[in-house]
Amino acid sequence: MPRTPLVVGNWKMNHTQSAARVWCENYGKALADGAGAKSAVTLGIAPPFTTLAALIEARGRHDFLIGAQNVHWESSGAFTGEIAPGMLNELGCDFVILGHSERRHVFGESDERIAKKVAAAREAGLTPFLCVGEKEDERDSGRTELVIENQLRAGLQHVELTDASELVIAYEPVWAIGTGRTATTEQAQEAHHFLRQILGSIAGAEIADGVRIQYGGSVKPGNAAELAAMPDIDGFLVGGASLDAASLLAIARGFDL
Ligand code: PGA
Repeated sequence: MPRTPLVVGNWKMNHTQSAARVWCENYGKALADGAGAKSAVTLGIAPPFTTLAALIEARGRHDFLIGAQNVHWESSGAFTGEIAPGMLNELGCDFVILGHSERRHVFGESDERIAKKVAAAREAGLTPFLCVGEKEDERDSGRTELVIENQLRAGLQHVELTDASELVIAYEPVWAIGTGRTATTEQAQEAHHFLRQILGSIAGAEIADGVRIQYGGSVKPGNAAELAAMPDIDGFLVGGASLDAASLLAIARGFDL
């Protein structure tokens, strides 16, 4: 099944509302200058919660997706500091990033919590972007496959997928995030292929064939094309390089043949 590449910017804790408006202006200018990808690529941005509404408004006619970087699993209640899936849906969000390595390793999010979030996001009509990835010592000790298989199986334990559009997976080796070190094309392709096989055993081959698996970890305009050429790499989750609109567009052009 052909998978339309999906290139998403994760702004993390960057870009205020006014910065998002400037980003959209720059995005429009870059497109007018011919910076858009020639092939079909879906773009998306995940700004901080407080920037979501401004970005949705500033997006105007541009057709990139907008999503959040986290969500709580309950629909309402006494959960100080949390945001419910329905709140994101009402704002007009399309997706939510879940299980990002910073959530897992800086904020101690467990697989069980991530699994509840994946299910709650699905129920609220938000596409979960489930992130998996091994730490450096796990790769060095040959445990990459074990770690990412466990994260994938655990993250999907409360959902039953009926269509490939209901899920996006992001493979993000922790040692490559924000470090300037990218996985080699072979390392990334191997992990993506493996994840697709595991997904097949969970949800069936047809769904596994259609689910987009993004690579994340120091993706830049200069390394996007070689990663994009790999058969199981269906897009990117881009941190630092997505803060600049022209650079995100240049990364999307990595999928041009
Ligand atoms: P990076 O972040 O592109 O800055 O390495 C990727 C991510 O965390 O999704």
